[in-house]
Amino acid sequence: MAVTIKSPREIELMRKAGEILAATHEELRKALKPGMSTLDIDRLGEKIIRSYGCIPSFKNYNGYPASICVSVNDEVVHGIPNRHRILKEGDIVSLDAGVIYQGYHSDAARTWAIGEVTPEAKQLMEVTKQSFFEGIKFAKPGYHLNDISTAIQSYAESFGYGVVRDLVGHGIGTHLHEDPEVPNFAMKRKGILLRPGMTLAIEPMINAGGPEVVWMDDDWTVVTEDGSLSAHYENTILITEGEPEILTLYKGDAE
Ligand code: MF3
Ligand code: CO
Repeated sequence: MAVTIKSPREIELMRKAGEILAATHEELRKALKPGMSTLDIDRLGEKIIRSYGCIPSFKNYNGYPASICVSVNDEVVHGIPNRHRILKEGDIVSLDAGVIYQGYHSDAARTWAIGEVTPEAKQLMEVTKQSFFEGIKFAKPGYHLNDISTAIQSYAESFGYGVVRDLVGHGIGTHLHEDPEVPNFAMKRKGILLRPGMTLAIEPMINAGGPEVVWMDDDWTVVTEDGSLSAHYENTILITEGEPEILTLYKGDAE
C-alpha cells in the first residue's frame, strides 16, 4: 500500500479524532489510582470514547478483546485488561488507545505512574516521552523517515536503555495501520522522503534493560525478556510545511 497524502478535509477529521483521543487519555489519567483493575481502565476508556460518538479501534482488531491496551511494569504493549490485575502504588502503567471518528483514526499511548514510583521508573518514562520529541524534530519535509528513527534510538540509548525492535510505529488514516512502518531504531535505508499531508503514529517502546521482548501465552501481551520495566509513548502526527502538528496532544497539557 502506498503512503497516502491526506486532503484538507481528511486532516480536519483526523484533528478531531486526535482531539477526542487526547481528551480520553486526560480523563483516564485523572481516574488512575491504586486499587483499580486494568479492566476498570478499559471499561472507563471505552465509555469515554463512545461518549464522543467514536469507535474504539482496538476492539476486536485482529481479535484483540478490549478497547484500551493496559501494560503494567515489565509489560511493553498490548496488555489485556483483566479484573484481577490490580494497580498498586509504585507501578507504571502504559495506556494505548485508538479511536475512529467519521472513518478516520487516531492512535496514542501514555505511560503514567501510580502514586510514587522509583527515580529509575520516573527517568524511564521521561526519556521515553522525550525520545518521541527528539524524533519529531526530523518530522518535516526534506528529512527521511530514518532521520526520525535514528534520533529516537540515539536519545534512548544514550541513557543505556533498550529500544524495542519487534514492534514499530506506522502510517495512519482510514486504517489504524497504514504504510510506512516507523521504526524506533536506525535502518540501513533512509526510508521515504517526508511530505506535507502524511500522518504517522510514532511510538517509542523503551526498556530499562535490554531491547529483547517475548510474547506471553495470551498471544498479545508483550513483556521484556529480562523482566526490566518498559515505557511507551505515542502520538499521531501530521507532517506540514513547517513544524509537525501533534494531533493527539492534550491542550493545557498536564502530561
Ligand atoms: N498502538 C498499537 C499499534 O499501533 C495498538 C494496536 S493494539 C491492538 O499497534 F489491540 F489494536 F491490536
Ligand atoms: Co500505534
